[in-house]
Amino acid sequence: MSPQSSAAFVADFRQAAPYIHYLSGKTIVLAVSSHVLLADKLASLAKDIQLLASLGVRLVLVHGTRQYLNNMMHAAGETLSYHRGWRITDEATLQQVKQACGMVRFDIEAALSSSPAQMPDRNQRRLRVASGNFLLAKPLGVLDGIDMGYTGRIRKVDAEAIQQRLNEGCLVLVSPLGQSLSGKSFNLGLDDAAQALAVTLKAEKLVFLTSDDGVRSADGTLLNQLTAADAQTLLDTSAHSADMSRMLKAAIYVLENGVRRAHILSGLNDGSLIAELFTRQGSGTALAQSSFMRIRAADNRDIGDIISLIAPLEHAGILLPRNREYLENHIHEFSVLEHDCHVYGCVALKVFEQQHTGELACLVVSPDAQDGGYGELLLDYVLKQAKARGVHTLFALSTNTGDWFDERGFETAELSELPPARQEQYLQNKRRSKIYRRSLV
Ligand code: ACO
Repeated sequence: MSPQSSAAFVADFRQAAPYIHYLSGKTIVLAVSSHVLLADKLASLAKDIQLLASLGVRLVLVHGTRQYLNNMMHAAGETLSYHRGWRITDEATLQQVKQACGMVRFDIEAALSSSPAQMPDRNQRRLRVASGNFLLAKPLGVLDGIDMGYTGRIRKVDAEAIQQRLNEGCLVLVSPLGQSLSGKSFNLGLDDAAQALAVTLKAEKLVFLTSDDGVRSADGTLLNQLTAADAQTLLDTSAHSADMSRMLKAAIYVLENGVRRAHILSGLNDGSLIAELFTRQGSGTALAQSSFMRIRAADNRDIGDIISLIAPLEHAGILLPRNREYLENHIHEFSVLEHDCHVYGCVALKVFEQQHTGELACLVVSPDAQDGGYGELLLDYVLKQAKARGVHTLFALSTNTGDWFDERGFETAELSELPPARQEQYLQNKRRSKIYRRSLV
């Protein structure tokens, strides 16, 4: 490996580490569209699924059947009928659905059984797949005078049985077919089954693997992140394919019902699932109930993260050394920027109330997240905080980052302008930092 690619690998691996820890032991529902299954992508997808399983992720995979059905109907010279987006399932179609489910299941089971290179021990740690009668269904009935036949909706998910299989280390494979108490089978929508599974199992994530790259704005831009409210606005204001609308509605539903994240991404691009789950940028669209990024007051639980951020800069002489004891005593001055529950930046604000002045200090953004605007956001946050606390002049003392402050409205200042106590400290530590000032009035 060349030194450059080795460095890139190390950087990527470090970026992935928090996600690896975070996802271990969590449940993810993967809803895989039949487009993906028929596009010859199953082998590479299976490798990524095995990798997730080897990292301790509890996996439930629910698959679509539409393309299989379309092919079967096409071969028989028939077409599927729909009403209000729901497939009408007569007796003959139900038989085709059952056949399609059987084919898909065997294909998935075979792909997941093939040389599990990611598993530590090939013989003992083969990924086991469990299926069963996990979905109880009820008929959709008659819609606008049209008998929807064997098209059904979810009545109940047998969460206990699924959790048991997951506890045993199995991947649970679910087909979009449900059984009724009267012993009949009903054809279910992929999105309907996926959302019911994710909510009932209290999954961490619902991931749609589709033929789309993700959600696009009205002008066609791929959106990396969306809040549930943004997704609703998008649904209300711009046109989407029927599939995308269904996925967006399911994503909004699960987010409103306790699932932390929904993702819509391409299952056709090699590695997209791994990139989506283990990198900050992702590969498709990640959806959350509220914003992914927030800046908040730090507390003692953040001290470890703050030390990780500042320690290398202290060693490099860029920041004044601050030990754990200092941080414990001054944690109320700190704020942290977190994205997706990981801390990527910190900043401190010290207020000298009598002089109506404040000092911004310890502004740090993690090296893997720099140049993305986080520094600017932390600065804005501190400016607002300082104003709210009656600060008229905000100082920043820096040995290396003067230009950054200069470009953001700070001017050089004299030592004599600092509050007396701060002047004393400045003279004691002999760092000879440059002093910058920004007026807030
Ligand atoms: N001097 C001048 N410009 C800089 C510096 C620097 N030392 N560091 C980054 N920039 C520029 C980048 O080149 C980029 O410029 P561009 O927009 O023209 O491409 C821009 O700042 C990036 O701005 P943001 O994305 O808003 O900032 P970022 O999230 O990268 O955070 C920060 C900026 C906090 C300075 C970060 O680079 C960092 O953590 N540096 C190391 C720690 C440090 O020096 N902190 C300041 C200590 S002094 C104090 O806290 C008072």
